[in-house]
Amino acid sequence: MRKLAAVMVTSVLLLSTASASLAVGTVLLPRGYESWDKSRQKIVEDKKSLFYGVHYIYLDKKGMKSYKDGGSYPEGSRFVVVFHNLKEEGGKQVEGKKNMIVLMQRDKKQKETGGWLFAGFSADGKPSGIDPVKNCFDCHRKDAADRQFVISNYEDFARKK
Ligand code: HEC
Repeated sequence: MRKLAAVMVTSVLLLSTASASLAVGTVLLPRGYESWDKSRQKIVEDKKSLFYGVHYIYLDKKGMKSYKDGGSYPEGSRFVVVFHNLKEEGGKQVEGKKNMIVLMQRDKKQKETGGWLFAGFSADGKPSGIDPVKNCFDCHRKDAADRQFVISNYEDFARKK
């Protein structure tokens, strides 16, 4: 029994070391993204939009320079977007519960998706197993092919509250 436990601990350790070079599907939500630079609160009121609700964009230190000046994003740069419901309270629209999280991580191996790893997570950070090409990249390619597939702007950060 003790031996089995030791084997399990070893495989967990191996798994966490392997997480640095993840394949799509096993990607984890980066730890501590809440402390990265954060955009202002963004509200999308169009119910037909995928972005309906409230969202915030987070960007790590590595990617900030390119976000500002348009240069090439260094390998490993990461964006996280956190989505919340929009709810009515006393005639005002306010931020509700978290409902989804998405990640873009610079990864030159991901040739099919423009050198970014795209991944989606549930509100509690569990991988949602979405297809990154159909569900993510097609849209990013359409909107931002000339901006390394990054759609949002540094301005959204400069105006942060
Ligand atoms: C319908 C089009 C569309 C689809 C589909 C889509 N996105 Fe986006 N994405 C956007 C738009 C528009 C923004 C910019 C939002 C803003 O400016 O506030 C964005 C922003 C992002 C950002 C912040 C970096 C950037 O490009 O500005 C990440 C990370 C991201 N999306 C990941 C994903 C992932 C992962 C998926 C698939 C689960 C996905 N997106 C699917 C349109 C889309």
